[in-house]
This record gives sequence, C-alpha cells and structure tokens, in this order.
Amino acid sequence: MPRQQWVIGNWKMNPVTAKAAAELASDLSQSASKLNCSVAAVPSAAHLAAAGNSLSEGPVLLGAQNLCALEVASGAHTGEISAEQLKDLGVSLVLVGHSERRANQGEAGDVLSQKIQRALESGLRPVLCVGEDLATRESGNHLEQVAADLVRVLTPLLDQDWSTLILAYEPIWAIGTGRSANPEDAEQMHQHLRAVLLGLKAEAQHTPILYGGSVKPSNAAAYAACANIDGALVGGASLIADDFMDIARAFS
Ligand code: 13P
Repeated sequence: MPRQQWVIGNWKMNPVTAKAAAELASDLSQSASKLNCSVAAVPSAAHLAAAGNSLSEGPVLLGAQNLCALEVASGAHTGEISAEQLKDLGVSLVLVGHSERRANQGEAGDVLSQKIQRALESGLRPVLCVGEDLATRESGNHLEQVAADLVRVLTPLLDQDWSTLILAYEPIWAIGTGRSANPEDAEQMHQHLRAVLLGLKAEAQHTPILYGGSVKPSNAAAYAACANIDGALVGGASLIADDFMDIARAFS
C-alpha cells in the first residue's frame, strides 16, 4: 500500500492580522480541491479560528503549532492550549518538536513524548519534527544523532497506536536559509529514519516521512521523486498560496 503523501504549510508567527490569515486560508481552500495528496495549513494559535473558518468547507486541514503536554482538557495553565481545545477549533494535526521551539522554548525529550501522547489519545495527528544542526551535519554524525533523538522521543510511546503519526525531517541549517538539503542526502536520511522507525514498530511502514527546509516550487519535484520522501513541511513558501499549491501539486 503506498504511503499517504502530505504537504503541510507551517505559517509560524505569520501573518500579523487575522484578516490576512483568513484570506490566505481562503485562497488555499479554493485552489486545493483537485489535489491527490493531503494538504494542511498550520497558522499561529492566534489565527486558528479565523483560518479555520475559511478552511471549514474545503479540503485543506487545519493544524496547530503546539499543544499542552499535560493530561488535562482545561485548568489553571496560563498560556497553554489543550488538545481538546484544539479539537474544538477544528484542528486535526499538531506539530511537535519543531527546531524553533526546541531552540527558543527549550523543548526536548520527555515533553515531546508527552505531547505526542496527548495528540494520539485525543485524535489529533502528531507531526514530530527532527533534524540536525550544521555542526552535526559537518561532523558526519547526523544519521546517528537524528535517529537517537527519534528513538528517545518515541520509545515511551511503544504501546500507543501510531497509525496517525507523521514524521518530518527538517535539517536546521536548511530552515529559512534558502539552502535546501540535496534530495539524495534527504533521501538517505529518510531511508535511515524509516529503518529506525521499523525497528521500533512494524506499523511504522505506513508513517509518512516529510522533508522540510527551504522547500519551494523549483525543488519540490526532486523531493517528490524520492522513494522515502512522502511530502513536505513548508515554511516561507506556504505563505504564498500559488507557491504552496505548486509544491502540493508536485506531491499529488
Ligand atoms: P522554510 O520552508 O521557510 O525553510 O521553513 C521550514 C520549516 O521550518 C517548516 O516547519
């Protein structure tokens, strides 16, 4: 059975206004109807309702950039958003472990496992992001280091159902730099991560592994041609509806 292809736009802390977010979502919703892959937009928490409203009738799924790691639907947790609250907003997937949150919010290890568990238990599809920094890539230790991170985060979750899990390989040096990984290098990492996943759990053969890091219309087809690259997690180019749709078409 071929793996489902996914193209996911991570809008990060963009745009500034809810009106602009709603307009971008509406443009995506209108142009995504004929695609043969799953497409999702992941606005900032401030714009989930506005963007979700624009997406509600169309094929583009709504995602969130973060969720609360605690096992509670509500309570005294200032600044947090529970999985149940996200579900109530129409969210169907959630990013976990993006390198920007690891670097700026210090997220790692157990917290990431807990967030994935909350997502799996509540019916949100977790998108676990992993990737090495430039020094690790240059040391040649990137395959081992990224695999070790993956094993650390997923090992506490071996008794969970992974059928909705998505993995995203995002080398940190390729994020927002315009310097994308060459497709052969990305494919090598994806193959390695696929083997590591399968070593943990047989059902991981169905887990899509997306590539992220300076994906654009001009390089998307080269990634799409790789056997173990099952889609893209797109940052900057996801803020331009036509560019994002060109990328989605490459995986469709
Ligand atoms: P860019 O596509 O802007 O490099 O961002 C990638 C990313 O971080 C997606 O999560």
